[in-house]
Amino acid sequence: MIPGDLDLSNPDVFGQGFPHEYFRMLRAEEPVSWNDSKFNSGQYPDPQRGFWSITRHEDLVHVSRHPEIFSSALGGVQMQDVPEDSLENIRAMLLSMDPPDHVEYRRLVSRGFTPRMVRQLEPRIRAAATSIIDHVIERHSAEFVTDIAMHLPMLLICELMGVPLDDQQQIFDWSNQLVAFDDPDYRDPTSSQDEVTARISNYSNQLAAQKRAAPDDTLISRYVNGEVAGEAISDLQLNNFFVLLAIAGNETTRNATTHAVRLLAAHPDQRDLLVNDLDALLPKAVDEILRYEPPVMHFRRTVTVDTEVGGVLMRAGDKVVMWYPSANRDERVFAAPDTFDITRNSTAHLTFGIGEHFCLGASLAKMQLTCIIGEILQRMPTIRPTGELSRLRSNLVAGVKAMPVIW
Ligand code: HEM
Repeated sequence: MIPGDLDLSNPDVFGQGFPHEYFRMLRAEEPVSWNDSKFNSGQYPDPQRGFWSITRHEDLVHVSRHPEIFSSALGGVQMQDVPEDSLENIRAMLLSMDPPDHVEYRRLVSRGFTPRMVRQLEPRIRAAATSIIDHVIERHSAEFVTDIAMHLPMLLICELMGVPLDDQQQIFDWSNQLVAFDDPDYRDPTSSQDEVTARISNYSNQLAAQKRAAPDDTLISRYVNGEVAGEAISDLQLNNFFVLLAIAGNETTRNATTHAVRLLAAHPDQRDLLVNDLDALLPKAVDEILRYEPPVMHFRRTVTVDTEVGGVLMRAGDKVVMWYPSANRDERVFAAPDTFDITRNSTAHLTFGIGEHFCLGASLAKMQLTCIIGEILQRMPTIRPTGELSRLRSNLVAGVKAMPVIW
């Protein structure tokens, strides 16, 4: 194995999960390495340019903390270069803004995500977790992703956005179709990405009209009725915020829940330890699960001025891809990083990013994971997968499409 062996732009390279062995070699031998990016699913301009891979914890922190050098807006945050007109839309999304705009827009919504707000939601999250398990407990078997994992994130997101519960399945399908662009199981063959986006926009415009007419304390209402630098939020910005929340809130926490159950079943010693001292160990276990199997595998930046990372010269315009699962297994930060150990202090993990764009939903996601994993371990501690995991074909989201379980 040598650096450059694997084309990390190809989602099939991630077919059995994140290629940790290859990244261990990269971290040791060429922590900032060039990838030619030969893969193109046909949806992006051809040819795609290559990119720098960031694999060490220290370098990922450096890139994330310097948005003036590593821009989220110039080329967006996804690995593939997209056409300029799509970029204009993408830049209306918080995730793909740079300071100073980013600071202003983030301020508008961040109040909805403070730890205090999340604590206020706790009783509702707890009750919802109990009810999700009530629905399946007598069956002793389930398809974990659709029967259990998807419900709590979906419910919370709909609640924050003020979406009626009846529309949940629709939002779920749309967000799957947008994230799973490389997976034929989720991609809707009858609609292009643009058509799916248009349907979501239509939906969010209607929601916006309602919230303008009758403001309430949902996040989306605060956003719709907010101003940045004296200007009202545009429909495009609103649509993008809606899409961002639907995807960021669903695709991530759902997969973290599924990986949690898979990891605990695969490490019965750790599971027993946890079950025997749930209150004390659960918060640590949640962090270790997030460190070990981060649901988001990469985000991208574009270099604004010639610079150096880890001694490697980068030119303005170069693409930089940060690999979160690799930084989370950096031997320089975590002892025995490949060991799943719920008693270790894992809080230095970078699963939620760091710096300017640090995940707004981090406390909310952790609260949801704590509630649902706690409920599962109390009521079905023997839960385990019965067959092969069906993984999403993606190098962006470590997604699981289906995981049959028994308990
Ligand atoms: C385990 C669950 C989650 C993971 C692993 C995750 C991961 C991430 C990461 C890595 C970023 C940083 C992006 C960057 O640096 O470019 C991010 C940003 C973001 N996340 Fe999450 N996320 C999770 C849950 C959530 C939830 C539940 C929500 C909302 C309800 C959410 C909303 C956001 C938003 C709005 C941003 C953009 C922040 C900004 O650009 O300033 N996330 N997330």
